Amino acid sequence: MALFRSLVFRAVPQSHSAAALSRGTLRLPSARCLSSAKEIPGPKALPIAGVLFSVLSDKDFDKNNIHLYFKKLFKIYGPIVKLKFPGKPTMVILSDPEDMKWIHHYTKDNPVRLGLEALHKARYLDEYFEKKGGITVEDGEEWWRVRKRVGPPVMKLANIRQYVPGMDGVAVDTLDRRLGSLDPNFTQDAEQMKCYTAALELLRCIFECEENLMWKIYPTKTFKTLQKSLKTLTEVCDRTLWEFKEEMKERNKRDPNHSPSLMEQLLLDSELSHKDIVTFMIDLLPGGTETTTSASLVLFYLLAKYPEIQAKAQEEVDRVLGRDLTPITPEQLNQLSYIRATLKESLRLLPPAIGTVRVLQNDIRIRGYTLQKGWCCLMTSAISGLDESQFAQSQDFVPDRWLQHRPLGQMHPYASLPFSHGKRMCIGIRISEQILSILIARTLQQFNLAWRGGDLRRKHTQVFEPVGPFPLTFTERN
Ligand code: HEM
Repeated sequence: MALFRSLVFRAVPQSHSAAALSRGTLRLPSARCLSSAKEIPGPKALPIAGVLFSVLSDKDFDKNNIHLYFKKLFKIYGPIVKLKFPGKPTMVILSDPEDMKWIHHYTKDNPVRLGLEALHKARYLDEYFEKKGGITVEDGEEWWRVRKRVGPPVMKLANIRQYVPGMDGVAVDTLDRRLGSLDPNFTQDAEQMKCYTAALELLRCIFECEENLMWKIYPTKTFKTLQKSLKTLTEVCDRTLWEFKEEMKERNKRDPNHSPSLMEQLLLDSELSHKDIVTFMIDLLPGGTETTTSASLVLFYLLAKYPEIQAKAQEEVDRVLGRDLTPITPEQLNQLSYIRATLKESLRLLPPAIGTVRVLQNDIRIRGYTLQKGWCCLMTSAISGLDESQFAQSQDFVPDRWLQHRPLGQMHPYASLPFSHGKRMCIGIRISEQILSILIARTLQQFNLAWRGGDLRRKHTQVFEPVGPFPLTFTERN
């Protein structure tokens, strides 16, 4: 997502001891840190052009591999680097987990993020939304009004576990090469197909508008397509929600004591309007699609590339699920701890997002530097996650490090935060963990994976996405 594309920062007061760093305990900055304000290091900035020329003339700058450029900056300037681009708020990029902890701490009550501006504008222009943009694009009170109501039910494990049978069905069908919305029996006019196409178009246009800002001056073709696909999705989601409400009434008559599903819980919340829920349903698309696709490809790649880890994961799957395709139960899913460790490790090594952005709402001091209100901090989890001082064998795929007894030692709690942290962290964390665990478990149950290429290449657009050939083979297990 573009909102994740912005840079990630880290800041650690120098007075912190190594023990405190490894414990990850939060302490107030020392008086020494607060006593003097220094200039934050970074590439040379000119009065109007800022760092533009320094950055563009650097042979190592490649916007598709921005993380490599940041890595270079951290090497030259240290763990906190200032970048001022013309017409943009000053950006500070951070690579030390202890500094990231501070940024999260300072911004915890009002976590403001740069949003998807084109989606924001399209919603504000559409009367349906009544100038309420939804959680992916709003900040401040309007963001919190919705997030505080939708967050708890959507992030509650028991609620997400209700969807194990559905997600498992999709995984089994997909592996059996029958894709629900791509069913050849659907015509272009079928509701599922319209919705599917509109969702793809919406995502494409949101991301294109982040790259090319002409839509800010006049409604470009891409912006108009964005508006059109948003309209289609809004109509479909609105209608679906009304139908769901009717079904809910029937179900309540039949069985007044049934425990409410996730959607029923949202509908029962009198503080959430019908339109809030429709907006939220659509918000799950830009948040969840590219990230989960990127994460699943990386996980397949790593399991294929490390056959001994794949064998260990397969052992767990065979022990818990056996070899038949009877539906996975929530209890079985809870037992797949090694699969969960492979997921965590793949998100450390090759996360979908470069990091998390926070726009400061107050001046703050970190490492003796003043970071000013309005500046934008990018906490580069994709870089700190690979830091050898934070993770032993940092470049290798070692899922065991995440097992409960931490065989490779303790890890700083802010060093690998692929879903971010705090009130604004990814709302889809439980959903994506569940989808990915089921997908991997079902795949390993039926297939052996092999990788016939070199290291996976990725480029960073909105999220990191694999580029080039993807020579992954699936061989049916005996
Ligand atoms: C591996 C998969 C995923 C990763 C790595 C990921 C990562 C992230 C990150 C880093 C953020 C920014 C949080 C912040 O600013 O503090 C975020 C926000 C968000 N994610 Fe995810 N995400 C994933 C999957 C999903 C899924 C499956 C959904 C929906 C079903 C989803 C929905 C959202 C939404 C709606 C937000 C905005 C939350 C807000 O601003 O309140 N994500 N995600």
